[in-house]
Amino acid sequence: MRAGQFGRYASGDLIHRRRMKIDYLANHPDFIPTLSKWFLREWRDFYGDKTWEDVAETFYERLNRDSIPLSLVAFEEQHPFGTISLLEESISTHKHLTPWLGGLYVCEEKRHQGIGRQLIEADVGEARKLRVERVFIGIRKAENYYKKLGWQVVEGANYQGEDITIMRLDLC
Ligand SMILES: CC(C)(COP(=O)(O)OP(=O)(O)OC[C@H]1O[C@@H](n2cnc3c(N)ncnc32)[C@H](O)[C@@H]1OP(=O)(O)O)[C@@H](O)C(=O)NCCC(=O)NCCS
Repeated sequence: MRAGQFGRYASGDLIHRRRMKIDYLANHPDFIPTLSKWFLREWRDFYGDKTWEDVAETFYERLNRDSIPLSLVAFEEQHPFGTISLLEESISTHKHLTPWLGGLYVCEEKRHQGIGRQLIEADVGEARKLRVERVFIGIRKAENYYKKLGWQVVEGANYQGEDITIMRLDLC
């Protein structure tokens, strides 16, 4: 799997160089409670009265390494920073499109350091390995961010009362 240089941390006079890794969540199921709690807090309206244990069930379904659905996790030592999944279905109004990058999340303290982009690239790499011809993503904003990464707009849609853009990345 990919391993990306995460950067430098200053602590007193010391500068620690640490290495962030991205790996299959299947190799790190201990991270599932943390990821589930992040998701519940971020998408409370979507999950309604579900508990983090309910959310965890969806992660357990994604513990694959060579088939969809699969999840990846970005982490350093025992600390997860973010996650992304490759899913058969995502936006329920668009079941005719498949597969999807979904469940992209980076913890608040680690945002704007390119971890999201690395997770997207790693997930696209997994799709390529599985010989997928194209992948989709549904986003609420940041269209230009995806365009710069080679994605193109498929169409706008309204999903759960919110305007979203469905984008596509061709892999061959
Ligand atoms: C979206 C998110 C994963 C980006 O993580 P990140 O590690 O900060 O990403 P990067 O450092 O690669 O890129 C940062 C930029 O891209 C934006 N971005 C990337 N993907 C995005 C998306 N799907 N939706 C909204 N913004 C996105 C970030 O907001 C940020 O914008 P800015 O720096 O121009 O203000 C993170 O902000 C997050 O977890 N947000 C809450 C959950 C979420 O919205 N997930 C996306 C669902 S489609």
